[in-house]
Amino acid sequence: MRRTIWIIGIIVVVLLVAMQFRRPNFDRQSVDAAATLQAQLHPPAQVAEMLRRSCANCHSAQGEIPWYGHVWPSSVLLQNDIRQARGRFDLSTWGNLSPEMSRIRLLNACAAMRSSDMPLWYYRPMHPGSAPKPDEVEAFCAWAQAQPVGRNLAWLQ
Ligand code: HEC
Repeated sequence: MRRTIWIIGIIVVVLLVAMQFRRPNFDRQSVDAAATLQAQLHPPAQVAEMLRRSCANCHSAQGEIPWYGHVWPSSVLLQNDIRQARGRFDLSTWGNLSPEMSRIRLLNACAAMRSSDMPLWYYRPMHPGSAPKPDEVEAFCAWAQAQPVGRNLAWLQ
């Protein structure tokens, strides 16, 4: 019995060590400074600071990767989260969006923060102080609302 436990333990340790050779790829190099939300929309300082603090780690190519982001298996989870997050809302590639899409994404983000869906619940205990404060959310939403609607949706107004 004890031997079996030892053998299983050794297999687990060997597996964990072996998996560390899989280097995660967070795609952190390719940032076009002119394409970021910051450069494209020039948000007020309060909004920019909140996005950097509360959202950029998952929703941009410039976020910080914590130490466990380099350790398998948490590296895989983190990589998937960032890939999905950037697929929906990417602060680093804002220049790819039409004015219509830009505003829609911002209003989506406003709704996600108002309903406390974002930042993700498990992010908050790990990053105390990262959740946006209510006045920051409202400042963001007011700014988002004031963005130009875009030619194709102008008839809506
Ligand atoms: C821990 C990583 C993480 C953080 C921090 C985070 N998000 Fe997300 N976000 C995700 C992931 C993963 C998804 C895609 C899966 C989903 O929709 O649940 C997502 C999806 C979204 C979407 C798309 C939702 C939709 O309905 O299409 C928006 C908008 C968004 N996030 C805004 C924000 C904003 C604004 C912040 C900062 C206040 C933020 N997120 C912080 C991980 C994160």
